[in-house]
Amino acid sequence: MENINLKDLLSTGKTDILFNSAKPFARLMMYYNCAMLEIKTKLDVLNNEMSLENDRNPFESITCRLKSPKSIFEKLQRKGYEISEESIEKNLNDVAGIRVICSFPEDIYKLAIKLCAQDDIRLIDEKDYIKNPKPNGYRSLHLILEVPIFLSSEKRMVRVEVQFRTIAMNFWASLEHKLKYKKNITENAEEISEELRICAEEIDRLDLKMQAIHNKINSNRSAKK
Ligand code: GTP
Ligand code: MG
Repeated sequence: MENINLKDLLSTGKTDILFNSAKPFARLMMYYNCAMLEIKTKLDVLNNEMSLENDRNPFESITCRLKSPKSIFEKLQRKGYEISEESIEKNLNDVAGIRVICSFPEDIYKLAIKLCAQDDIRLIDEKDYIKNPKPNGYRSLHLILEVPIFLSSEKRMVRVEVQFRTIAMNFWASLEHKLKYKKNITENAEEISEELRICAEEIDRLDLKMQAIHNKINSNRSAKK
């Protein structure tokens, strides 16, 4: 299948053949995959270095995901964008996504600052839902970054979305997602939203308490040195 039209192919719903037959699309996905690996490696390097300095890892886990062709198509359609490779690059920032789960809130900012300070990283956008939580209680730090990938005959800047959360914030976001995902809640909707928001606030208080305990232990340790 040469010169395949992305829109026609996506609209057939046979998105599984995209990776084999739609060369430009497969190539674009390869760029996103490489960019995701670049950022993941940078975070792993910081984790190695910081854990040697502080005797503990600044993050607990890191997960990567590429948006599925179906989700890419649905998002472009939902937002009224053209269905093409150019449009994906121009309009979607979350085709490549990394989620970093940290132990304590302060680790999030330490990591994010160090990552953004690297001279090949370009910060495109930042949404700080920790300092400014969403009305439903959602907390996380979202960065849209651009990183260069070096191919055999060119260098390309590619976008990656990085979400930083604490274990506690992730606990809330995962359960909230599970509770709400694709469920049209009509009964007691307001009450349920309010309960979830209250849970998010309780979780936030716990995060701050754990951070304070951690800081206390750390200052005791450094006083003894
Ligand atoms: P998307 O179109 O979903 O990518 O949203 P956006 O471009 O407005 O970006 P935003 O920063 O609001 O959210 C991006 C991602 O953050 C989502 O895809 C989710 O992974 C996560 N997220 C944002 N809001 C919520 C929320 O209320 N609950 C949960 N569980 N996750 C959220
Ligand atoms: Mg998204």
